[in-house]
Amino acid sequence: MPTSTQVAVGPLAHAGSVMDGAQLMAANPYRPWEARITSITPLTENEKLFEFRLIDERIRDAFHHEPGQFVEVSIFGVGEAPISISSSPSKSGFIELCVRRMGEFTTRLHEMQCGDIVGLRGPYGRPFPFDDMRGHDVLLVAGGLGIAPLRSLINNIHDERSDFGNVTIIYGSKNPREVMFREQFEMWRHRKDFDLYLTVDHPDDTWDGEVGLVTAPFAHLDVDPRNTFGAICGPPVMYRFVVEEMRKKGIPYDRIYMSFERHMKCGMGKCGHCQVGHQYCCIDGPVFNYWEAKNIQGSM
Ligand SMILES: Cc1cc2nc3c(=O)[nH]c(=O)nc-3n(C[C@H](O)[C@H](O)[C@H](O)COP(=O)(O)OP(=O)(O)OC[C@H]3O[C@@H](n4cnc5c(N)ncnc54)[C@H](O)[C@@H]3O)c2cc1C
Ligand code: FES
Repeated sequence: MPTSTQVAVGPLAHAGSVMDGAQLMAANPYRPWEARITSITPLTENEKLFEFRLIDERIRDAFHHEPGQFVEVSIFGVGEAPISISSSPSKSGFIELCVRRMGEFTTRLHEMQCGDIVGLRGPYGRPFPFDDMRGHDVLLVAGGLGIAPLRSLINNIHDERSDFGNVTIIYGSKNPREVMFREQFEMWRHRKDFDLYLTVDHPDDTWDGEVGLVTAPFAHLDVDPRNTFGAICGPPVMYRFVVEEMRKKGIPYDRIYMSFERHMKCGMGKCGHCQVGHQYCCIDGPVFNYWEAKNIQGSM
């Protein structure tokens, strides 16, 4: 009989065998694993950054994600929602999720406290091509909550900075109250190896940064098109205009990557809920290059 630390579950389980974390997760991919909230940082009026630690040490050790992937978070008795992982894979043992309060699920998550327990399964989805980006310049453009998945990529690049060329970050928000991760941006602003442009549509008296749409800083950008990858995440309306600016700079379409949100259920290509045309956003995406994204109805 397995003891409490020797759980044998599903088809891979054999009497007397003890599975490691990866085998446990593979044995039942639908199973959410308990995770404790270990830190909560309010970012704006409607967004909070949560840090979670998986409780089972074997699952925690086996959990590896790549920038652009997401997890399914469950609150017992409420439901489940896909949320992008916002922390860098180079930091192990915990993951950070940046959550906007929208409806019932996210409101309940916002009401939770440090020490409370949720379920986590994943990571799922196709990530940004981090290894292909090595050795190249990277131009990252985020609008609003789109900074959540891009932050994972930015932090991963930061942790392996010498592997990349010029790194430019453009982050646009509606107004100064909605700018997230201000301290982190302040830190990047003072570094010489990141070019950072923060912009808001509607400034107030506290704002001394750029004003205008997220496409405005492109006017000052000096891009080497043969050597640059683009990464975009933001509200649907943003993609077409940002892609257009990247194309004007000569970045090839197959090096422009973007992350999409579609309504999802299983997160692993089983239920068809996220299907658009012949693509399943949960496994063929959420990160697509321009050519792939063009075939997703209503995206471009
Ligand atoms: C791959 C992926 C990654 C995501 N990453 C994040 C993240 O990092 N942070 C975050 O806060 N949210 C993220 N989301 C969105 C999040 O899953 C939804 O906001 C959440 O499911 C809403 O649940 P709710 O019960 O609070 O709101 P609901 O009551 O379900 O919805 C409130 C409103 O939001 C709309 N809505 C809900 N889900 C979506 C969606 N996926 N796309 C567009 N509109 C939607 C509904 O139509 C409704 O108008 C992600 C979604 C996907 C598919
Ligand atoms: S969410 Fe089920 S197939 Fe994509």
